[in-house]
Amino acid sequence: MNKNSIIFGLSKSYELAKEVSKLTDIPLGKSHSNKFLDGEILFTTDITIRGLNVYLIQSTCKPVNDSLMELLIAIDAMRRASAKSINVVIPYFGYSRQDRKCKGREPITSRLVADMLQVAGATRVLTIDIHSQQQQGFFSIPFDSITAMWMLTDVFLKENKINMEDIVVVSPDFGSIKRSRAISEKIGINLAIVDKKRPKPNAVIISNIFGDIEGKYCLMIDDIIDSGGTMISCAKLLKEKGAKGVIILATHALFNGDANKNFQSAYEEGFITDMYVTDTTNNIDIPKFIKVLSIAEIVAAAINVYSGNAGESISTVYKKYKFFQVFE
Ligand code: R5P
Repeated sequence: MNKNSIIFGLSKSYELAKEVSKLTDIPLGKSHSNKFLDGEILFTTDITIRGLNVYLIQSTCKPVNDSLMELLIAIDAMRRASAKSINVVIPYFGYSRQDRKCKGREPITSRLVADMLQVAGATRVLTIDIHSQQQQGFFSIPFDSITAMWMLTDVFLKENKINMEDIVVVSPDFGSIKRSRAISEKIGINLAIVDKKRPKPNAVIISNIFGDIEGKYCLMIDDIIDSGGTMISCAKLLKEKGAKGVIILATHALFNGDANKNFQSAYEEGFITDMYVTDTTNNIDIPKFIKVLSIAEIVAAAINVYSGNAGESISTVYKKYKFFQVFE
């Protein structure tokens, strides 16, 4: 048991924290997050954390603002209680899509969140598949974003013995080309690209597919599924254009609005053949046909490095999960 460190799982990531605690042999601390009638959050723990390396695990998923505030308050509590270091693990980094100004008078909210985490007292941040890697630059403390996309691809390929020549990787939009191309090149299969436009939030227009998908199994890979509009519209178009099957792999299953219902129907109607996501968002109500893979092993590997258990550098964890190949 590692006596210099302690893990706390906040309300959105308690189950994940339990698993990470087992894998790292770092004790899981008891804490409570209660709410006053006006919505204010009170974080409490009875454990002395003076001089300890603290790992706070909290996905800033739905309701995003409450999850984020709970995390900031917990960081503040740890700083005031003299933690030696405050390592924040944010499996899904809410607001990471607001990473640049697209037009006048827009905020860069992801940068604001990065500032708030640092002002509160975070000394290190770990996340999984942040929306864009350049957000590293929003932090002046150590920051890691490790990908789960290789784990998803790997498990899919192992569980489904499909001939490589029958598969094509499909990028669901131009923003995802880099990682889709890296995966297609690594496993030696072709790439196709969907032309997606977003006229306003939560609405998509899918107009065209570039590449040969007829008679193929299409492997669509994305970081986030929110309303499901992108993936479901793409899946329908791919099937209409003659795809043999559509497989969806995505790290963050936000599943807002009617996503559950729409994915279930798309599966029953044969537009989606198979689907894999991870547990970054504590989303327990998703349709049964979707396979949920745990990121606990990835988080534990990083924490083992941070805490000195592994005796190696974080780049070995990046390499193990093939970060460089995905984003180079
Ligand atoms: C956008 O850039 C992201 O990578 C996803 O494609 C997007 O968040 C998916 O949203 P939705 O599921 O609502 O179409």
